[in-house]
Amino acid sequence: MDVEKAVMERRSIRAYHAEPVPEPILKDIMERALWSPSWGNTQPWKLTLVSGETLRKIQETYVTSMGEGREASPDYDMPSQYSDAQKTRYQGLGRDLFTAFGIGREDKEKRLQYYLDMVRCFGAPHVIYLHLDKEFHPYALMDGGIILQTIALLAVEKGLGSCFLAQSVRYPDVIRKYAGIPEDQALIMGLSIGRPLEDHPGGLFRSERGAPEEFLRFVD
Ligand SMILES: Cc1cc2nc3c(=O)[nH]c(=O)nc-3n(C[C@H](O)[C@H](O)[C@H](O)COP(=O)(O)O)c2cc1C
Repeated sequence: MDVEKAVMERRSIRAYHAEPVPEPILKDIMERALWSPSWGNTQPWKLTLVSGETLRKIQETYVTSMGEGREASPDYDMPSQYSDAQKTRYQGLGRDLFTAFGIGREDKEKRLQYYLDMVRCFGAPHVIYLHLDKEFHPYALMDGGIILQTIALLAVEKGLGSCFLAQSVRYPDVIRKYAGIPEDQALIMGLSIGRPLEDHPGGLFRSERGAPEEFLRFVD
């Protein structure tokens, strides 16, 4: 598969087959992704692949915690301020996703189920957690994003899907506990990975993009 095809085919997958991906495939993807660039070749990333019973325990603890009304307490705050244009896109994504999933505006029960499904990482058999030494420089976030996107593109080539999931790191203490990640590590992001359910809205959904002129300039 050429790079252009992988870039255009990658999209966030929000419904997965439950069966695990053979570990050598995931290992191959993760090892190749280590060739991603990083500031000063510092390679600040740590990646922990979590599957099986450990992943189930993390997710069920999340569901229980949400049921008890526990606030999200991520190590790195989720965005809450947007420019007008960003806010419009953010709200547009939510609207389009709910439409695709057949969830009505006022349907609180279905919305709740959707969010619970999200903290269960949409049924993905694996999650790759990106963590960094707690005293990381913001450049390490850039490096971390690059390596996760490299994984996402390599996954496409193997017929796999993925989704960056901020919601998967909403209770980092739970991940540290079950996945044995040391206290000096900040949980930054989870990337769900698995085989997409092709006949489900979560496997089919395509987000929109603004017109190139909104983002791109060509000078001289
Ligand atoms: C840092 C980051 C965090 C994200 N967190 C979530 C999330 O918690 N839940 C979710 O459904 N999608 C999440 N996404 C996926 C975005 O919604 C998605 O990338 C965006 O809508 C563009 O769609 P596409 O990935 O299908 O091209 C996240 C993406 C990024 C880059």
